[in-house]
Amino acid sequence: MKRTPIKKIFSSGKLGERILVKGWVRTFRNNQFISINDGSTINNIQAVIDSSQTSEDIKAKLNPGASVSVLGALVESLGKGQSFEVQVEKLDILGESDPQVYPLQPKKHSLEFLREKSHLRPRTNTIGSVLRIRNEVAYGIHQFFYERGFYYLNTPIITGSDAEGAGETFRVTNFDIENLPLDEEKKVDFKQDFFGKPVNLTVSGQLEAEAGAMSLGNVYTFGPTFRAENSNTSRHLAEFWMIEPEMAFVELEENIEVAEEMLKYLIKRVVENCNDDLEFLDKRLADEEKTKPEKDRSELGLVEKLKFVLENEFEKISYSEAIDILKNSKPNKKKKFKFPVEWGIDLQSEHERFLVEKHFKKPIVVYDYPKGIKAFYMKQNDDGKTVRAMDVLFPGIGEIIGGSQREEGLDKLKTRMQEMNVLQEDLWWYLELRKFGTAPHSGFGLGFERFVQFVTGMGNIRDVCLFPRFPQHAEF
Ligand code: 4AD
Ligand code: MG
Repeated sequence: MKRTPIKKIFSSGKLGERILVKGWVRTFRNNQFISINDGSTINNIQAVIDSSQTSEDIKAKLNPGASVSVLGALVESLGKGQSFEVQVEKLDILGESDPQVYPLQPKKHSLEFLREKSHLRPRTNTIGSVLRIRNEVAYGIHQFFYERGFYYLNTPIITGSDAEGAGETFRVTNFDIENLPLDEEKKVDFKQDFFGKPVNLTVSGQLEAEAGAMSLGNVYTFGPTFRAENSNTSRHLAEFWMIEPEMAFVELEENIEVAEEMLKYLIKRVVENCNDDLEFLDKRLADEEKTKPEKDRSELGLVEKLKFVLENEFEKISYSEAIDILKNSKPNKKKKFKFPVEWGIDLQSEHERFLVEKHFKKPIVVYDYPKGIKAFYMKQNDDGKTVRAMDVLFPGIGEIIGGSQREEGLDKLKTRMQEMNVLQEDLWWYLELRKFGTAPHSGFGLGFERFVQFVTGMGNIRDVCLFPRFPQHAEF
């Protein structure tokens, strides 16, 4: 007999049906009631044993974390809120769990504690819910683009370029680093390295995706990216996943439209398909909010916030308008911002949060940024000062999407590369995309974990992946 996932039992089980359940014990109460979870849903199923017919040895092993196999008939549950429970005919302990040392005893654990037990934490309601929602979002992304005729591309993970030019790359080599080969000038001789040149883990699949767009039309990537930025924040990972659509014959305005449509599509999908998990996370967040001082509490609950984003059009403002608003803002006049506001600055998190959470109170798209703070590939505006960049800023998260129209003019691109010290020899192929049949094109990058953070209401990005990677931390 095959096991039936608990999710399926609750959705389509029938009274009297004999089923096989396999999962992990959450609790064992009154010598009779075993609460079992198998990860398919947040809901546990209750298995009821006949205590007098069950050996003391087996009962002593029904500890939190033990894995069990239960065969029995589905009967109506007397417990509140549950439709079914299992009347146990046969119970086997598959794997024991010593209650003296099992870390996930049935009580509330802090997220910090759970991070140290990342190999077990998906068994908790919180992390289990987050990972199930993460799956829903990933599937939704593919479906969104598939429905719109975009082709999914896998761009290389090992690359010679630093697309964002931020110099935060992880070097990849098969050199014996204790014993590096040197050339005549006593410099490391990369000709002898595996690829015959220095390479790194990709920070973005964009440049390669542009080659895809310039042939297949509309494409997207969805893959891991790596950044060695030393940002120990709740929104940065050293390894994160990015979704990067790239569209031929599309300009900035349409790029922004696609971004907004995609974000809403994904949020709607989570609201519609992840009821049980969302309900739990909504309560979790509400409890967490209660521990904060009143002035720092969010006005909306998680589900309310998601619905609010769905129902409201994102505000679109230029960078220059954003700076004007910030300059005239109360916190600026009262010198409450840590970073001064001047045209040309990179917007800091405090500025983004003011605009999104205090001023507009909804997601905003900021476009036309100063060229000095953006990457070399962005399309230059005629004013000579700004580029056709756009960032989508979300409440509680800040920047969730970064994108732009791309510079399609060969000469303009070359000049900009020179100004920004981007080597043309390395990107000869990227320049050829402008030489042979260049065309307007645009794209953006959505930080997958930041989005999952938003829809789950988790305060720390380290809690929305299985095994997070951040400075000084590659455990598991
Ligand atoms: O703004 P970014 O750097 O844009 C790019 O990489 C472009 N090449 C995208 C494109 O146009 N195709 O990064 C895009 C998004 C950010 O808005 C943010 O959500 C996320 O990636 N991101 C990170 N997420 C987690 N940890 C980090 N260290 C991140 N850095 C960026
Ligand atoms: Mg960015």
